Amino acid sequence: QRGLIQVLNIKVEKAKELKQKPDFNNLGFGTDFTDHMFMMNYTEGQGWHDPRIVPYGPITLDPSAMVLHYAQEMFEGMKAYKTEDGRALLFRPEKNIQRTNVTNDRLCIPKINEEDMLQAIKALVSVEKDWIPTASGTSLYIRPFIFATDPFLGVRASATYLFMIILSPVGAYYKGGINPVKIWVETEYVRAVKGGVGYAKTGGNYAASIKAQMKAKERGYAQVLWLDGVERKYVEEVGTMNVFFKIDGEVITPALEGSILPGITRNSVIELLHSWGISVTERKLSIDEIYEAAEKGTLEEAYGTGTAAVISPIGQLNYNGKIITINDGKIGELSQRIYDTVTGIQTGAAEDSFNWTV
Ligand code: COI
Repeated sequence: QRGLIQVLNIKVEKAKELKQKPDFNNLGFGTDFTDHMFMMNYTEGQGWHDPRIVPYGPITLDPSAMVLHYAQEMFEGMKAYKTEDGRALLFRPEKNIQRTNVTNDRLCIPKINEEDMLQAIKALVSVEKDWIPTASGTSLYIRPFIFATDPFLGVRASATYLFMIILSPVGAYYKGGINPVKIWVETEYVRAVKGGVGYAKTGGNYAASIKAQMKAKERGYAQVLWLDGVERKYVEEVGTMNVFFKIDGEVITPALEGSILPGITRNSVIELLHSWGISVTERKLSIDEIYEAAEKGTLEEAYGTGTAAVISPIGQLNYNGKIITINDGKIGELSQRIYDTVTGIQTGAAEDSFNWTV
């Protein structure tokens, strides 16, 4: 099978000098990088080859490299934690790896053998184990990504690619912890449409989202709530995260119909809620239904879920100038319980009854 070779030997070239580590009690998000990175090439006819761990640093790329022009690329985001007894834990890495190949398929990037990718992640994280921070809310963010490297300006799938993994010790994604944020309901721009690449983890989705995010910020809002691109009626995602609403005891999250990213935190939250006997429905949810619930007093909680922030409660919505406040702008009981449980499992502090950690 094209591309599906088994990588057995990762060459390791250690950095001659190690960096001074940042203050692990005062970490930002995605600003510091570790001493090493993983690289592997793909060449048509040869498959994935030359897996290696090398000192972290800039790479050389032909200015005509296809990724720079047509954005044929993908990325993933996951986290490693260190347990009290010093073990490195990954959270459901197989989910990110499976999603990598879903994205690859959509972007016509050659698939990666799942075992190989897991081995690459494990190898790099174990080389960089000292970079896993342990303070509350911190972790080692893992960023695998693949991009097209053919020096060519025609539009087609590249015949060569680079697969890389970089690591970054991170603190809270949002400064100030899990405080509820003000959200602008976006009616002008859309994030994705069915048939497009919304379900794939590819940079273009994020590039397309920045304009709306910028405008929301100018208006004093932290992020946008995306509506569907066809009817501009149904909620899709919030910022870069999946979104959940609790209305009259029922938790509702938009169904995955092609335009929404199948988040791993989203999936974990659904499984967790089910295990607690809380009803979760994946379906279309209109912004009107949310506003009607707010009016009736049955809109209990709303929050985004993602790897970076885990959970981000929504304190307020502004839809065409109509403002509603959710749970008095405070963190909901359920949001807090989800956050505590998920992070407890991730860090090894809570029992992992789902066998999510590796
Ligand atoms: C998330 O984890 O919420 C993401 O979407 C990754 C983000 C840093 C782009």
